[in-house]
Amino acid sequence: MRLIRRLTQGPNRSLGLGLLALVGTVLTGCAKASELPQSPFDTAGPVARAQTDLMTLSLWFAGGIGLFVTVALLFVVFRYRDKKGNDKSVPKQIQGNHKLEIAWTLIPIIILGIVGVPTVQTAFATRATQDPNDLHVIVTGHQWWWEFEYPQLGIVTANELYIPTDKDVQITLKSADVIHSFWVPKLAGKMDVIPGRENHMFFNAEREEEFFGQCAEFCGTSHANMKFRVQSLTQDKFDAWVKARQAGAATPTDPDALAGMNLFMGANKSKANCIVCHTIDGTNAKAKVGPNLTNVGARSTIGAGLVENTKEHLMQWIRNPQSLKPGNKMAAHPNLTEQELEQIVKYLQGLK
Ligand code: CUA
Repeated sequence: MRLIRRLTQGPNRSLGLGLLALVGTVLTGCAKASELPQSPFDTAGPVARAQTDLMTLSLWFAGGIGLFVTVALLFVVFRYRDKKGNDKSVPKQIQGNHKLEIAWTLIPIIILGIVGVPTVQTAFATRATQDPNDLHVIVTGHQWWWEFEYPQLGIVTANELYIPTDKDVQITLKSADVIHSFWVPKLAGKMDVIPGRENHMFFNAEREEEFFGQCAEFCGTSHANMKFRVQSLTQDKFDAWVKARQAGAATPTDPDALAGMNLFMGANKSKANCIVCHTIDGTNAKAKVGPNLTNVGARSTIGAGLVENTKEHLMQWIRNPQSLKPGNKMAAHPNLTEQELEQIVKYLQGLK
């Protein structure tokens, strides 16, 4: 408290207030992430752990050297500052001192060796392979959402990636438009998603958990709203999920949901024509402009991790997507009545 009082009063008041504002901003930046922490230090798999261990090792050496240099610099600056009565003659010259030359050549070689060997080992250990026994996922970054395709399983989904635990998942990264970056901090370091080329990485989740992911490369208006989730499931549960997904969507029996489905499929194009952009497996909706919605009712969020998947949010999203996510490419639907919106939402929520 005394420190805060001293910072906010007295001669350095504006500097102190500015400092407090900065600290506050930084601290609140951490606060929101607490709902689903995405710290690279809380690792949940071997790839992230190897990378974190390497980073920690480098950090100790870099921090130690930084500290040593800072202390030595401050010592020299204060000890030998220009004072009245100082000896102004040129100090003793030590150029060509063999012991010193050998010491400051050897020490960096040893430190670089200690850091360099595990760096090369980690680079090889975390390198993606094309092992056909692993699960393969093609991740495509779009402005501003993620598409996940499982080529071995014939499944496409969006924004929520399901993976089995204790299995290497080989990721191929593609972009549909601009540069993005795919990052699930607890599972692996980030990797750029670049138009016109494929990047490869892999990870392995050791436990059942819902992991938080985020686009980590500025990619336009809603870059900050380009989030995703990775849900790891035990192999049994994952197999059940695959089976349910491969079955496709069933035609709803509820009359409201059925009316919603007809609207979705373009029965009244002046109101809605969702099939020009979206796919729902097992129906006539086969377009690939927007996210695949086959299991949209099972997703915990909509709009790429933007808001909770509730009836109200879905209705707002369909009526006026810009009001939730600036710049996104989904069309608005001002002509739908409240009842028609509810019908479409009922249909979508039934897709699990
Ligand atoms: Cu995609 Cu930032």
